[in-house]
Amino acid sequence: RVRDEPKQPVKVLVTGAAGQIGYAIVPMIARGLMLGPDQPVVLHMLDLPRSADALKGVRMELIDAALPLLRGVVVTSDEAEAFKGVNFAVLIGGWPRKEGMERNDLIAKNVTIYRSQASALQKHAAPNCKVLVVANPANTNALVLKEFASAIPTKNITCLTRLDHNRALGQISEKLGVHVGDVKNAIVWGNHSSTQFPDASHATVRTEQGEKPVRELVADEKWLREEFVSIVQQRGAAVIKARKQSSSLSAASSACDHMRDWILGTPKGSWVSMGVHSDGSYGVPEGIFYSFPVTCEKGEWAIVQGLQVDEFARSKMELSVNELEEEKVIAYELVSS
Ligand code: LMR
Repeated sequence: RVRDEPKQPVKVLVTGAAGQIGYAIVPMIARGLMLGPDQPVVLHMLDLPRSADALKGVRMELIDAALPLLRGVVVTSDEAEAFKGVNFAVLIGGWPRKEGMERNDLIAKNVTIYRSQASALQKHAAPNCKVLVVANPANTNALVLKEFASAIPTKNITCLTRLDHNRALGQISEKLGVHVGDVKNAIVWGNHSSTQFPDASHATVRTEQGEKPVRELVADEKWLREEFVSIVQQRGAAVIKARKQSSSLSAASSACDHMRDWILGTPKGSWVSMGVHSDGSYGVPEGIFYSFPVTCEKGEWAIVQGLQVDEFARSKMELSVNELEEEKVIAYELVSS
């Protein structure tokens, strides 16, 4: 590409686009917060036929917002049309968890949807399409996509734990009274569920005297091992309780962070958390989608290697492994029956 030549538009699919997260994320994408301020986009918005009018309304608003990077909006309830030629897919659509629903009920509803989306993805998307699964159970939905969209490289399928990662940064910032932008290198290990392990043991804060470990600054091991972990694990539920619906603006913003860092790269010296297919790193078995610390460069993620994991962390990390293996068994039974 010649230096000043404008970039060609890319196609970005958002499923569940008429929902709360969808409504929050489409203007962010169209303003360049996901793929950069010089990257024109065509938005493909998919939702169920009953939301067709609502989607038309969102399209009107996007036109009314006069967004220079936005080069087109497709609104549809047809999967084939929605997935056609897309370079990036943000999969938010799925059955939302309602009061009284067990996790297994949610798996049953959503893995079936993800099986169908997998075939649309591999049939219609661009061959190198990069996928982010937001809908719960996010890790297991990603696994179903991987299984049934084998034409898409496994490394192109990821799930969102950046929301949990950002929540961890937020809690450290609140606890220490420092700017959140000065906190980095928290880790969220595992499932996007209450078995996840938010780990601050490698996190640092930028201070006038250089970078300081969060462990030293907090100096309260009990807070880091108990309160911090449980606040982050339970934050989604706390937001649902307060708002009577699940997190939306933070989910949308974190999904943009996830894609931006994946595509444009993580800053030097820092990592982020992403749900990716395990390659066996840190003793996490292959064959599940697990959240790891990753760095990204030129559109490729790599798991950060060589971090020290103590006994406490190991036992927490295993809880999420066990839960994901159980979800996998349930999901496989459902999709193969
Ligand atoms: C969140 O983390 O906010 C959501 O995944 C919670 C949920 O169960 O919908």
